[in-house]
Amino acid sequence: MPEVQPPPTAAGPDRTPPCALVIFGASGDLTERKLLPALAQLAAEEVLPRELVLVGVARTQLSDDDFRARCRKTMSSSAPSVERLIAGARYVAGAYDDPATFTALDELLRQIDETYGTAGNRVYYLATPQHLFGPIAVRLGAAGLDKSPTGGFVRLVIEKPFGWDEESARRLYGDISSVFAEEQVFRIDHYLAKETVQNLLAVRFANAIFEPIWNRTWVDNVQITVAESIGVENRGGFYETAGAMRDIVQNHVLQVLSLFLMEPPTSFHPEAIRDEKLKLLRAIRPFKDEEDVARRAVRGQYARGGTREQPLPGYREEPGVDPVSSVETFVALRLHIDNWRWAGVPVYVRTGKRLPQRITEVAIEFQRPPQLPLFPSTDLEPDALLLQVAPSEGLSIRFGAKTPGRSFAIRKASMDFAYREGAAPDHAEAYERVIFDALVGDPTLFIRADEVGRSWRIVDPVIAHWARSAEPIPLYQAGTWGPREAKELISVDWRRWRHSGR
Ligand code: BG6
Repeated sequence: MPEVQPPPTAAGPDRTPPCALVIFGASGDLTERKLLPALAQLAAEEVLPRELVLVGVARTQLSDDDFRARCRKTMSSSAPSVERLIAGARYVAGAYDDPATFTALDELLRQIDETYGTAGNRVYYLATPQHLFGPIAVRLGAAGLDKSPTGGFVRLVIEKPFGWDEESARRLYGDISSVFAEEQVFRIDHYLAKETVQNLLAVRFANAIFEPIWNRTWVDNVQITVAESIGVENRGGFYETAGAMRDIVQNHVLQVLSLFLMEPPTSFHPEAIRDEKLKLLRAIRPFKDEEDVARRAVRGQYARGGTREQPLPGYREEPGVDPVSSVETFVALRLHIDNWRWAGVPVYVRTGKRLPQRITEVAIEFQRPPQLPLFPSTDLEPDALLLQVAPSEGLSIRFGAKTPGRSFAIRKASMDFAYREGAAPDHAEAYERVIFDALVGDPTLFIRADEVGRSWRIVDPVIAHWARSAEPIPLYQAGTWGPREAKELISVDWRRWRHSGR
C-alpha cells in the first residue's frame, strides 16, 4: 500500500498560512499573559501573514475597539506587523452556551474570509477553564463551525488539564471527538514546547555516542525534578481542585519522561514520535494496591517557613485555600519501566512548590565503576548526564577527575553546554512555538488522546489512595526539599536525590 503522506523531516515551514485565529476566553488571564505577547512576538518576527486575523470571543462586553485597546496594552511593540495584527482584530461578545454567540461568530468568520482572504481556515484556541472545553466544542459543531465553508483547515487547540481523572478525560474526549477528528485537535503541554525539552530529541537522535549507553547496562537510575520556589500564588482556588499530581506529574513530568526514555522513532513524523511515547507510558508499571502506593509514592504540603526577615506562608494560609486542606503541593514517585531497555532501572520523579530553588532537570546517573581500588576518595557521586530545562538551559556531563597535585584524590568535574550560546537570537518561547505549530498544523509537540488516557491511568490509583487515606498529609517547611518521606523513598534504595541541600 502506498504511504498516505511522506514523513516530514524535522524542518518545517517558516511562515504560517492565512487563517482566522479565534481565541475563546479572550478577556482572560491566559490570553493576556501568554497568548497576546506570544502573538506579538510572532508578528514582529514576520512569520504571520497579512491574512492572519485575530478574533476574540468572551462573555465580557467589549467592542472591537475595546479589544484592540487591550491587545495594544499587552502586545507592546512598535513593529508595523504587530500594529497591523491589532488593527485587524475583531471581537464577539457572548455566552459560551448561547447559540447566538456561535451564529455571530460564523457570520463574522465568513465576512473575514471575504475581506482578508483567510481562505476558510480557522484555528479555535480555547483559553477558557477546562470545564468549558466540551460544551464549546459541541456548540461549534452545532453551528457547523467545525468545518470550513471552503474546504480549508479547522483546528481546535486546548491546554491541560484534560479532565481530572481517566473517567472525566474520557467524557471530555467523547464531547470533543463527537465534533472534531483527532487530527484536528491540538492538546498543549507547554513543557513539550520548551527549547531544551526538544533538545532532548536532538541529543538522543542526532548523536551516536549516547545511544549505546542509554539502557539498563549503563544507567543506574533516572531522576526527574520539577522544583519551583514559588507557592501557589493567586491560584489557590484552582490548585485546591488539582494538587501537584494533576498539575505537574500527570502531564509535564510524564511527557518529559516519555520523550527521554522512549525507543528511537522510525522517523520524525509526529505519529511516529507519539507512538513511541505512548509505548513508553504503557510500559510504566501500574501502582498495584495501597501497599504499593505507600511504598512508591510520597505526598507533602508546604507549611509556614522561610526566615525571620522573609517569612513564607503555609499552603493552608494562601488565598483561596481551605485552612484544613490536605491537597498535595509536593509529590515524589519511584516508577519502573517494564521494557527491555529499562528493566531494573528506577525512575525517581519529584515535583513541588516552595522548594529551595527553581530547577527543572532530567538526570541519568550511570553505574559506578566495578572497582575503585586506586583512589583514596571513593565517596564519589555517580557519573551523570543532566539535561537542564530551568533556570539554566543546557546539558552537563558530570564525572570524576584527578585533583591536581601529588595525591590521587578524585574531584567532581563537569563538562557543560549552555544551550543559548552561539544560538541565533530568534529562539521561540513555549507559547510562540505552540501557536506557530498549531497554525502550521504540526502536531508533534501536542499530546494525543491516547497519551492523555494512559497518563491518567498511571496517576489515578495514587490520587484515589491519598483521597481515601486517613493519614494526615506529611508537611514540609516552605523553602525545604519536601517531607522527610521523600528522602526515605530514595534512600531505601541506597541512592540520593541530586538536589537535596546536602
Ligand atoms: C503549569 C502549572 O502547567 O506549569 C503551574 O499549572 C506551574 O502550577 C507551571 O507553575 C510551571 O511551568 P514553568 O514553565 O514555569 O516551569
